Amino acid sequence: MREPIIILSEQEIEKMRQAGRLAAELLHHLGQMVAPGVSTLELNDEAEKWTKARGAVSGPLGYHGFPKSICTSVNEVVCHGIPSAAQVLQDGDIINIDVTPILDGFYGDTSKTFLVGNVDAESKRLVDVTLECLKLGLAEVAPGKRVGDIGAAIQQYAEAQGYGVVRDFVGHGIGRVFHAEPQIPHYGRRGRGQRFQKGMCFTIEPMINQGVWQIEVLDDGWTALTQDKKRSAQFEHTLVVTENGYEIMTLREGETFE
Ligand code: MF3
Ligand code: CO
Ligand code: CO
Repeated sequence: MREPIIILSEQEIEKMRQAGRLAAELLHHLGQMVAPGVSTLELNDEAEKWTKARGAVSGPLGYHGFPKSICTSVNEVVCHGIPSAAQVLQDGDIINIDVTPILDGFYGDTSKTFLVGNVDAESKRLVDVTLECLKLGLAEVAPGKRVGDIGAAIQQYAEAQGYGVVRDFVGHGIGRVFHAEPQIPHYGRRGRGQRFQKGMCFTIEPMINQGVWQIEVLDDGWTALTQDKKRSAQFEHTLVVTENGYEIMTLREGETFE
């Protein structure tokens, strides 16, 4: 049997706002460190320190055995890249940083793909299209609409741009747990799947590949790479369904979504 969809109370939504705001601030903070010569371990260690100093806990650390506090996914890494001292950012790289602090028992999950120095035009286009995919997915969220509407909007746009939509990882319900029902695929068909209800809280986090959608996972059990070794980008927000639409919990200061 499927676990039931969790509907958050107004008090719980306020807790999610606080966790989401913390996640947004952490991602902004780490983004300011991104530059050629910085290792992904330095980003991780700063995240751990920053999170602890605010009385929060790093959700990824120890989650199903994940060894670090954030995920850092560079170039052909689709997601779940493990920070390491040996991995030093190079001019021209793209890096997704995915953070999930737990504040007072609630998870805020958000990620962004950053450009390292001078990035080629084709990679920039990938990053721009991926952000647009997140926006198009968000625009489908309102009571009465369905999970499949998000995936359909994202898949249609990404594939029209010549890109592959990752199937193996999906958005997810979130709240007092990291990953809950419903699953939110970034591909699919309109009018299909669960209907959205006010108070549902979940993430949208499209992973878009320059080439094929297929991925493979390294022997470390985590690092997911594109099968063709072309680049992949991702953006993620945590949101709650409202009376008329949605509210993003992890919006960064100055970030706008029309
Ligand atoms: N933050 C990721 C997500 O968006 C999950 C990372 S799981 C970890 O769902 F174990 F790798 F941290
Ligand atoms: Co997530
Ligand atoms: Co995440």
